[in-house]
Amino acid sequence: MVGVVRVGMAALAASLLIGTGAALAVSAENGKKVYMAVGCWGCHGTVGQGGVTGPKLAPDPMPYETFSAFVRTTNRTMPPYREPVLSNSDLADIYAYLQTVPKPPDYKSIPLLNQ
Ligand code: HEC
Repeated sequence: MVGVVRVGMAALAASLLIGTGAALAVSAENGKKVYMAVGCWGCHGTVGQGGVTGPKLAPDPMPYETFSAFVRTTNRTMPPYREPVLSNSDLADIYAYLQTVPKPPDYKSIPLLNQ
């Protein structure tokens, strides 16, 4: 019984720590929401894989400085997203989301393709 209470308290303490951390740090989860909400997905695909209109953004996104400078100032086919439309923290969250996109498996790890 005491053990159960201890574990419960530890879990509570851990979730409080994670909770406050998430409020300050970048959030890939929020980044995914913003990526969908402001329409990046429409041209770059839902996981940044690239689409008919936009190039691939993930996995392995370009350095953040290049990424943010592009999004803020581009004047070609892609519309620029300036701060009133997309805050710096939301842009950082989008980048965090793109960093979480897994790489495709190496074909050497797929038995059928190695016969
Ligand atoms: C209307 C379609 C469209 C939307 C919406 C869009 N993009 Fe793009 N994006 C493009 C195209 C097209 C390019 C290629 C450069 C160009 O022609 O403007 C591009 C290029 C980029 C690049 C540079 C890629 C490279 O390899 O050079 C980044 C980074 C990028 N987009 C991020 C974003 C993000 C983040 C969003 C959402 C905030 C977004 N884009 C929304 C169409 C779009």
